[in-house]
Amino acid sequence: MKPASPFRELQKGGGRVRVTFDGRTFDLREGGNLAAELLAAGIRSFRKTPVSGAERGPFCMMGACFDCLVVIDGVTRQACMCEVSAGLVIDRPGAEGEGDA
Ligand code: FES
Repeated sequence: MKPASPFRELQKGGGRVRVTFDGRTFDLREGGNLAAELLAAGIRSFRKTPVSGAERGPFCMMGACFDCLVVIDGVTRQACMCEVSAGLVIDRPGAEGEGDA
């Protein structure tokens, strides 16, 4: 069941692929923008700041703010600059033991 989200997909249909985020599985639109797809799936917080622990999520959606940082298959990336592909394993920075980004 898809969690409630204020974000709506503009394009319906398309192939879905399974990814994991923070240990939860999601079926996202293949080739879609990863940050947008996770927002549409109901994920608001992508990471926490290393100092205060404040929650952060996508803000600019153009690679400038770095609030969408995630760890994809062990590499820290900006989710808004990535496409969804099958089998992605996505974690919050710091959750996989490499330290906060
Ligand atoms: S949302 Fe700002 S860098 Fe990704």
